[in-house]
Amino acid sequence: MHPTTYDGPVARDLAIDLGTSTTQVFARGKGVILEEPTVIALNTRTHEVLAVGDEAWQLIGRTPGYIVAVRPLREGAITDFDITERTIRLLLRRAGVTKLNRPRVLICVPSAITSVERRAVKEAARRAGASAAHLIEQPMAAAIGAGLDIHEPVGSMVVDVGGGTTETAVISLGGIVAYRAVRCGGHDMDAAIQEYVRQKYGVAVSERTGEDLKIAIGSALPYEGEMQAEAKGREVTTGRPRNVVLTPDEIRFALREQVELVVDTVLGCLSDSPPELAQDIIYEGIHLLGGGARLRGLAELLARETEVPVHLVPDPVECVVRGAGLCLDSFDSLRPIFAAAES
Ligand SMILES: Nc1ncnc2c1ncn2[C@@H]1O[C@H](COP(=O)(O)OP(=O)(O)OP(=O)(O)O)[C@@H](O)[C@H]1O
Ligand SMILES: [Mg+2]
Repeated sequence: MHPTTYDGPVARDLAIDLGTSTTQVFARGKGVILEEPTVIALNTRTHEVLAVGDEAWQLIGRTPGYIVAVRPLREGAITDFDITERTIRLLLRRAGVTKLNRPRVLICVPSAITSVERRAVKEAARRAGASAAHLIEQPMAAAIGAGLDIHEPVGSMVVDVGGGTTETAVISLGGIVAYRAVRCGGHDMDAAIQEYVRQKYGVAVSERTGEDLKIAIGSALPYEGEMQAEAKGREVTTGRPRNVVLTPDEIRFALREQVELVVDTVLGCLSDSPPELAQDIIYEGIHLLGGGARLRGLAELLARETEVPVHLVPDPVECVVRGAGLCLDSFDSLRPIFAAAES
């Protein structure tokens, strides 16, 4: 036994997508090894991050009041450096990273974040235990995850409707040539449903109930087999429990502004792209992804409004992290793409 030799598992390079709503980790040679809600259990006295994801939910409620659940990336932006670092540290630990096996880590970031934030994320990953940290822009990772050939001189368009943001980009020759994002995603849709129920029925429902309603009966266009749904809430005036019954038509009405914002962002990005590339997109279509892309009728509505075919990618929620995961196999040859994301 030589205490100085280490024959444990070698470090597997990791790709991380820290989404507003979902956190995913992809390990090279393994695939997606972690997919959990982006929530942390935070000790508000010591600022310590005690758990991430499902573990965090389990902890809350069994612990004193100063340990609270925090969604650190609510708006799709990395706001608190300290918390980001601690969250990444816990994620790396859960992925099997120790002091002796430090992987290279590729982190997916929104194209809209500032260069200060980019440096902060890289630094946070290094301090959290990565031997090297690189960034990749989410639309680029999405395009790779959707199986598009990003190096061709052909325009491709990706639309990612996430929890906190909708990002749209046109990619050609390994670079982003047009980009538009809006701070509107699935969470805003949930909030719009909450607001509608409060206004119309005087009943307060939880954010979770808003999301449940959206997934159960929500849509961007009328669909076959529509059924109403019942939601539990509390009367705003008395605080008494009260149930309300909602129709798909009402939810559509509640979501109209958010859906319109998504459509406008896509139209804006299309109009920003050079005419030759726009031609490619009209021919090849738009690739739609992100959890919010699953809203019934959204792909159809987008196709109608843009007059461009819209393809929902096969795994809309994992597309970004899988794309970044594929990059781990060509870490060195893809450096220009990472560098572009890091400047
Ligand atoms: N079937 C569905 N219909 C409508 N919305 C859905 C459906 N399934 C999931 N969603 C929504 O998708 C959103 C999460 O999407 P996703 O996991 O892509 O976000 P994220 O990557 O964490 O966020 P972001 O990219 O904005 O940082 C949530 O708001 C969720 O309610
Ligand atoms: Mg996302």
